[in-house]
Amino acid sequence: MQNLPDHVAIIMDGNGRWAKKQNMPRTYGHKKGVEVLKDTVKSLIKYEITSLTVYAFSTENWKRPPKEVKYLMGLFSQTIEREAAELDEQDIKINIIGRRAELDQKILKKIEKIEKLTEDNDKLILNIAFNYGGRAEIIDVIKKLKADKNLKPEEITQKLVSKYLYNPTISDVEFIIRTGGDKRISNFLLWESAYAELYFTDKYWPEFDEKELNKALKSFAIRQRKFGALTGEADQ
Ligand code: FPP
Repeated sequence: MQNLPDHVAIIMDGNGRWAKKQNMPRTYGHKKGVEVLKDTVKSLIKYEITSLTVYAFSTENWKRPPKEVKYLMGLFSQTIEREAAELDEQDIKINIIGRRAELDQKILKKIEKIEKLTEDNDKLILNIAFNYGGRAEIIDVIKKLKADKNLKPEEITQKLVSKYLYNPTISDVEFIIRTGGDKRISNFLLWESAYAELYFTDKYWPEFDEKELNKALKSFAIRQRKFGALTGEADQ
């Protein structure tokens, strides 16, 4: 397929509703969600797409019942440990973005380990947004800018702000897919998605198979991208 995005981001919504439909606990949906994510990663590599960012746990997700929060923490922690070697073998680089200070020490260690193990890989960059919020990220940028006493207001440009994001090496998002039927961004990648094309589907995340991904990518491929101006390179 021609005219594919380099950087896709996904809001993997609908795990709980999918599980409920099969009379299973919500956690079953999250578990299936990890499997679907693994398949999606393989498919994106086939399409030669080079970056994927997924929303695994938002700063708002702490408000869920404690049991579910605990399950999601455990699932993330187990998955990044269990899949590390295979991800590395597949030449996938893992970046975790989000507020780290609020995470458990054990999880932090695993995050550092997988990032270090995969740092030189470049087939696919997989950014996992974990304890991530778009507004939290912007606030954290502002704090870092304010802490730099030598910085003059006129030096604060879009380029500079981008350098202060959780991971300055991550490119702008070109295509955001949201499953689960809701049509909102829910505090995901607010800065990085300024020019992103959006795609919403009623399919729940556990149902988002290769056929659905293909449909989404086709929809991107035929859109004419305008950036509001000619190039989208404005920097002021
Ligand atoms: C939204 O569905 C999904 C989540 C809050 C969690 C998604 C997390 C994963 C798929 C696992 C991530 C793990 C790694 C290692 C990346 P929902 O619970 O809001 O579903 P609902 O809208 O039907 O209630």
